[in-house]
Amino acid sequence: DVKILTPPDIAERKGGAPIACLTAYTTPMARLVDRHCDVVLVGDSVGMVLHGLPSTLGVTLDMMIMHGKAVRRGVERALMVVDMPFGSYEESPEQAFRNAARLMAETGCAAVKLEGGETMAGTIRFLTGRGIPVMAHVGLTPQSVNVFGGYKVQGRGGDADRILRDAVAATEAGAFSVVLEKIAEPLARAITGKIAVPTIGIGASAACDGQILVVDDMLGQFSEFRPKFVKRYAELGNEADAAIAAYAEEVRERRFPGPEHVFGDVPKTVRRGTA
Ligand code: KIV
Ligand code: NA
Repeated sequence: DVKILTPPDIAERKGGAPIACLTAYTTPMARLVDRHCDVVLVGDSVGMVLHGLPSTLGVTLDMMIMHGKAVRRGVERALMVVDMPFGSYEESPEQAFRNAARLMAETGCAAVKLEGGETMAGTIRFLTGRGIPVMAHVGLTPQSVNVFGGYKVQGRGGDADRILRDAVAATEAGAFSVVLEKIAEPLARAITGKIAVPTIGIGASAACDGQILVVDDMLGQFSEFRPKFVKRYAELGNEADAAIAAYAEEVRERRFPGPEHVFGDVPKTVRRGTA
């Protein structure tokens, strides 16, 4: 039996071998990520990636629980983290605890992730002091897309200090790691050098202690979404498109199913699809 990685195991990797993380939303994908990565995140990106939502704002706690349960069945070794969705934690530390406890109890995850630094420090302290490990997320925080007015690179101007303070505040409040999203390299390097826990970058350079991507993005499941920071390791979207086109054509031409896919004896006269 392999030991499952814990939040302290991840925290200890600060400054060491880079931490490999990916998202997953289903059991089969979680199995693949678990075989190769240290952290599997059930991100609220699931709303955009699997449910066709225009942003992460419409994602509910029930959606996170459903996908979290599916992912848990595929995880044996990696640390499993589940995102707290918009509206499930911002109101008060008590609200955050109630919903984070549900996520942990119902999915079996070992930690939650929430967006925010200074603003959420009290909540992060409340949760970590009561048995809930927290991964923080600062920089571009997609649940605040309407405040930012888009998904722009953060920390390029006067907001660099604010993002550094967010990362420091989250760390001091007890977060065991901090996701840095879509910030310039110098700021990612400065934060990584300053805080005592691992930084996990997404569009935040190799200066971070670890990396994360949305698994469907790096597998090329969509052709439209191509942000600069996503390297495509496969083109599954194109492959799936070609496969589905071939299937539809073979059905229409009666070339599928063939004799090898059929139960029972097929009369010779209908074998060629002339029936
Ligand atoms: O929702 C998500 O997938 C995320 C990561 C990519 C950091 O928050
Ligand atoms: Na997220």
